[in-house]
Amino acid sequence: MPDGTPHPLAAASALYRKVERVIPPFEWAMHEPTILEIQRLKQERNAVVLAHNYQTPEIFHCAADLVGDSLALARQAAETDADVIVLAGVHFMAETAKLLNPEKIVLCPDLAAGCSLADSITPEDVRRMREEWPGAPVVTYVNTSAAVKAESDICCTSGNAVQVVESLGADRVIFLPDEYLANYVAQQTDVEIVSWRGHCEVHERFTGDEIRQYREGVDGLVVVAHPECPPDVLDASDFVGSTAQMIGYVKSNRPGRVLLLTECSMSDNVAAEVPDVEFVRPCNLCPHMKRITLQNIRQSLESLEPRIEVPPEVAAKARLAVERMLAVK
Ligand code: 13P
Ligand code: SF4
Repeated sequence: MPDGTPHPLAAASALYRKVERVIPPFEWAMHEPTILEIQRLKQERNAVVLAHNYQTPEIFHCAADLVGDSLALARQAAETDADVIVLAGVHFMAETAKLLNPEKIVLCPDLAAGCSLADSITPEDVRRMREEWPGAPVVTYVNTSAAVKAESDICCTSGNAVQVVESLGADRVIFLPDEYLANYVAQQTDVEIVSWRGHCEVHERFTGDEIRQYREGVDGLVVVAHPECPPDVLDASDFVGSTAQMIGYVKSNRPGRVLLLTECSMSDNVAAEVPDVEFVRPCNLCPHMKRITLQNIRQSLESLEPRIEVPPEVAAKARLAVERMLAVK
């Protein structure tokens, strides 16, 4: 390799070292050719792969250039100078990337990768809420369609929800669509929170009883939860935060045994990096996140399809709501 590019086999074994704790060699042998092909296509297309923390380890550690929670992915999408963005995550994440990069090609390897929260609310519902609560600004979780974002004043993620709500200087805020995240925010602020009835189909399955049983069975267990979990689960947890904040907590506190109450691939991704921590894994998979595979990432890099498009009139308003969020420090 005269230009200093590592030989593909050397590159592959360096990649395998990142995941050897969580992917056995026979499984790696199956993934390796597709990963090398993805690396080659990314160079050819001047493309980046942005992967959410819930992607499987072979995507998260070996195909992605940038990884993170919804907030980090939005920030990275706003900053990249690649011509093509592949969003290894769900549809609303790819749509957010497109809003911030209208001139770029944004690919979502499976357009059916949805989200129960995004499906729980329509633009009409938001307009009705505004009529019911006149004067209250609307804060919309990024887990929504661009059309719903377009009806909002500002977006938020689970990583910045309290700061966003407080940045508005209002006594009352309409907070949509996740009821449990809204409850959690209401506990952290004096602002009155008006909520909707949306739930995440993955996080709503955890129960407080389940956490108590794990604590009884596992000595010294530390429980870390995502705020999309029901209130009794959050009450029974030691730390609550966005997926990136959960990872940050584990990496800096190094609990001997930890239970991450979120999508189960995230435990694998963190376990690959922290050999001194044992993970207890109730495996709640997000069926939407799991639609993204190495194969469809490779296919979309090859065909530059399927692309995300947002009608210009919706995009202009929705972009404003996302940009206002990114401006909140
Ligand atoms: P984060 O923003 O915390 O990554 O959450 C996104 C998500 O979809 C959680 O289910
Ligand atoms: Fe949506 Fe829940 Fe899946 Fe996240 S985990 S994408 S909130 S359904």
